[in-house]
Amino acid sequence: MAAVEVADLVKRYPKARTNAVDGLSFTVAEGEVFGLLGPNGAGKTTTVGVLTTRVVPTSGTARVAGLDVRAEPVTVCAKLAVVPQRQNLDRSLGVRDNLTFHAAYHGVGRAERNRRADALLERMGLSDKAKAIADDLSGGQAQRVMIARALMHRPEVLFLDEPSTGLDPQARLFVHDQIRALRDEGITVVLTTHDMDEAHKLSDRVGVVDHGRLLALDTPDALVRSLPGGATVELVAVPGPDGTDELIAALGDLDGVARAEDRATGPATAPDAPVTVRLAVTCDPATLLAPAVEAAAKHGATVRDVSLGEATLEDVFIELTGRDLR
Ligand SMILES: Nc1ncnc2c1ncn2[C@@H]1O[C@H](COP(=O)(O)OP(=O)(O)OP(=O)(O)O)[C@@H](O)[C@H]1O
Ligand SMILES: [Mg+2]
Repeated sequence: MAAVEVADLVKRYPKARTNAVDGLSFTVAEGEVFGLLGPNGAGKTTTVGVLTTRVVPTSGTARVAGLDVRAEPVTVCAKLAVVPQRQNLDRSLGVRDNLTFHAAYHGVGRAERNRRADALLERMGLSDKAKAIADDLSGGQAQRVMIARALMHRPEVLFLDEPSTGLDPQARLFVHDQIRALRDEGITVVLTTHDMDEAHKLSDRVGVVDHGRLLALDTPDALVRSLPGGATVELVAVPGPDGTDELIAALGDLDGVARAEDRATGPATAPDAPVTVRLAVTCDPATLLAPAVEAAAKHGATVRDVSLGEATLEDVFIELTGRDLR
């Protein structure tokens, strides 16, 4: 039995002109960590909303732990847990009470819920925060409390909607370790993220969605290998009088180059600042080193560094979803 099964799922919000989820189908195997990857507004949270019974689908089916979420919402909710994208702790309650109230709601007896709360607070490094009011927590602490709360009723399937957005590196690694530990305990994890590194490290398989549709679904390694140009050449150069665009176009025209991209991320810098151009190549990248340097020189650019690399999940993401802001 699949832990999660989504078939032809459509969600159109009232008054919306397009579908937030537009015919999505995928399954998640029991015990799998499944990454749902997509740009802002792709429909990830909406999909999680349907699977966790918070959002009513327009059409299609969604099953969790073998149960149809529309037909059996109460039974489904007992088998799943969700750590939402937005903090939704009971802000006036203490941390420990947030955990025990949640367990009581799910019918866990008093002694047992106290035991579980203490164990989970300990596990999440929150024992000294047990009595703190939820409103007084930092973002990272609140995130850990929400994970602890989610585990209080021992779910079979855990949905994590962007679990590490806004966390510092320590908290991020901690959350990653916890996700691996949950997998080892046999819990199925569905995780949404824009963090490619996180998706690659944690997910057994990744589904890339955009505009509510599934664009690709495979293991992270297979997705990277499927890219036209799985290898890359990175060139750091100070553009000549011809400018950066000319340089990129010339490099993109070389035989064996699938794409040439400016890797600059920050705001425009001084005119003589070096730019980093990343070439996705379909041939042996070493054979492109000399031609790339030559082409750059021909356009008056001064090459500072050339290096070989491998494509990443981010390259897959950009190849599939483009560069436009949403
Ligand atoms: N409650 C709502 N009412 C109306 N439209 C909504 C609602 N929630 C989401 N949408 C719209 O549905 C689309 C998908 O949103 P969703 O939150 O599912 O995306 P997402 O992939 O989770 O994005 P992000 O990465 O920014 O969290 C967006 O166009 C959004 O504006
Ligand atoms: Mg979202």
